[in-house]
Amino acid sequence: MKLAVIGGGSTYTPELIDGFARLRDTLPIGEIALIDPDPHRLALVAGMSARMLARAGHPARITTDSDPGRGAAGAQAVLVQLRVGGQAARHVDETLPLDCGCVGQETTGAGGLAKALRTVPVVLDIAERVAKAAPDAWIIDFTNPVGIVTRALLDAGHRAIGLCNVAIGFQRRFAALLGADPGRISLDHIGLNHLTWERSVLLDGREVLPGLLEGHGEEIAASVGLPAALLRRLGLVPSYYLRYFYEHDAVVAEQRQAPPRAAAVAEIESRLLEIYADPAADTKPGLLAGRGGAYYSEAAVDLIAALLGQAPARLVVNLRNAGTLPFLPDETVIEVPAQVGPDGAVPLPIRPVPPLLSGLIAHVAAYEDLAREAALHGGADRVTDALLAHPLIGQASLAADLAARLIEAGRDHLPWA
Ligand code: G6P
Ligand code: MN
Repeated sequence: MKLAVIGGGSTYTPELIDGFARLRDTLPIGEIALIDPDPHRLALVAGMSARMLARAGHPARITTDSDPGRGAAGAQAVLVQLRVGGQAARHVDETLPLDCGCVGQETTGAGGLAKALRTVPVVLDIAERVAKAAPDAWIIDFTNPVGIVTRALLDAGHRAIGLCNVAIGFQRRFAALLGADPGRISLDHIGLNHLTWERSVLLDGREVLPGLLEGHGEEIAASVGLPAALLRRLGLVPSYYLRYFYEHDAVVAEQRQAPPRAAAVAEIESRLLEIYADPAADTKPGLLAGRGGAYYSEAAVDLIAALLGQAPARLVVNLRNAGTLPFLPDETVIEVPAQVGPDGAVPLPIRPVPPLLSGLIAHVAAYEDLAREAALHGGADRVTDALLAHPLIGQASLAADLAARLIEAGRDHLPWA
């Protein structure tokens, strides 16, 4: 089979290649097409990827292309992992909101909106070209903000599913704490992308979350940056993105003191590219562990294998709500466990959601709707409305001020501005 990676020149790609090589029995791949507009990065990453496959004795060949349509022709699955504007644009997302007293993050709050505005049109344009060249391919979106981008892809009629590594990360972490194989663990994971909670952890079908919180509460809480007492009282594990809500002001105070994540990542990226340029380098560099993408290759392999009919599975993905969360419209994209097979993903029924969770989910879902509208149609008013609807912003003058600043700073990537 042929797999295409849009944004294949990403320094993350060797993480994917490592997973493909390790999981070759689950997913037999004959060609990996790396597609990227930056020829320099693409050449370095492709060279490294080919050496990694050769070392692992994997038969797949690596091909490269700058054009998504040409490169993805004949692919059965297309992964989209691009970053419009690179770390420089991310730097703005993470710092600009701080001047207004709001959290600076690339997927949450005003920064997430800025990212959505510049990303949605680019992904839609690429998907259209990909769909012409590979009409039956599944489009797997890793590009953030995943919920908004996936919804835009689905609305445009694409065979798309959104994927994130938060759920698989919890599954692996809980498995390690329990000394169990990750395949024995299933999660009741609910919410929207980067706004999720683990409500239940089943080991061979038996509930083990209370015991985990009892025995390892401090460790689990530290990994999400929240107090153990809060997790124990709620009886659930929020993802670390919930910290931007539950401890917003403390995060803003911290962020004002520390260099933004974009700066750290830019540094890691330039060192990774040096490694990839070394003709002797042929294994995944340890430095990649400094990035946030742990296990994303495994999540991708599981999802593609299920979609291509190799191994139907219960996987946490981003897909249409379709009545699963009764307080949201059917069209909304949510992140929940789904049954995945050759016909796509179907959300599994879930237990009723208490107001503590449903209120915030509904609030952010409404913001995401308006964010998509703003990304599709542009205009200061739409951007302001999205910010006004966001629970972390929500005040009229603040929303208008932030909107003006975001548009000004993002002008180069906003055709309508
Ligand atoms: C996690 C999130 C991804 C995000 C990444 C950032 O993996 O699920 O959506 O892109 O973190 O990692 P970085 O190394 O770029 O900060
Ligand atoms: Mn994610």
